[in-house]
Amino acid sequence: MNARRFDDKVVLVTGGNSGIGRATAIAFAAEGASVVIAARRENLGADVVDEITGRDGKAEFIRTDVTEPGQVEALFAAIGERYGRLNHAFNNAGTGVPLRRLANTTMEEWTAVMNTNLRGTWLCMKYEIPMIRKEGGGSIVNNSSVMGLRCNDGLSLYSASKHAILGLTRAAALEVAHRKVRVNAVCPGFVDTDMARKIFDHNPAAKDAILASVPLGRLAKPEEIAGAVLMLCSDAATFMTGKEIVIAGGQGIRP
Ligand SMILES: NC(=O)c1ccc[n+]([C@@H]2O[C@H](COP(=O)([O-])OP(=O)(O)OC[C@H]3O[C@@H](n4cnc5c(N)ncnc54)[C@H](OP(=O)(O)O)[C@@H]3O)[C@@H](O)[C@H]2O)c1
Repeated sequence: MNARRFDDKVVLVTGGNSGIGRATAIAFAAEGASVVIAARRENLGADVVDEITGRDGKAEFIRTDVTEPGQVEALFAAIGERYGRLNHAFNNAGTGVPLRRLANTTMEEWTAVMNTNLRGTWLCMKYEIPMIRKEGGGSIVNNSSVMGLRCNDGLSLYSASKHAILGLTRAAALEVAHRKVRVNAVCPGFVDTDMARKIFDHNPAAKDAILASVPLGRLAKPEEIAGAVLMLCSDAATFMTGKEIVIAGGQGIRP
């Protein structure tokens, strides 16, 4: 019934070569979008493009490090040249850090987390807003986290970056609402991706504790986050802006 919601739309997915971004890029393409995937690892980018085009979808990988302002500028210049427009964007590129108490975190960790998660999201939004405005409106979705709403021991920098992404989301939504650009966020709980696996590999006890706190009793699949992103970019969400959708299997219901 909802098939092909994104025919003729150009959609950017940062971090679209892995995990949640990969699932979202595939889902957008299955519904007709031309998908631009921006991330660093070219081999993974080529794999996703092959998967999408092998199913008669449209996708392109543009190698981009979102911590490099020149590369972000070049990404949007390339989108402008090749497609002439941008309709929706999922700012998903992100990185985590090993679990570490705040007093033991380092300048390098601060820089890596903030420059990827927060500055990268802000920088992409700076270019996305005018392009989407020019099309008469569209949707931006930022990937925050349940750690953007709450926190766990050892996740101070990650959590601070994800809280700030919600601040950017709300501020931008206010500024561009009259231009029909909607800006929302998703807040996933733990999702079965490389990022979560890295944390659990170093700390197996953390996985059991997390699963015990999730009423649905499992990690999310990346596709279960993609579904919410597509909904936020679709006509089902035309009156929704400046908000976040929590997709966490019921985590947080209990006090
Ligand atoms: N997994 C979870 O439990 C969870 C929960 C809540 C929120 N999230 C958020 O979901 C997003 C995606 O993470 P994931 O779980 O899907 O893990 P993932 O599979 O490790 O994906 C991370 C993605 O970000 C890209 N990326 C990282 N640094 C980048 C940079 N400097 N420039 C461009 N792209 C960069 C990676 O590609 P390259 O390395 O090739 O650049 C990769 O595509 C992140 O923002 C994360 O914080 C994850």
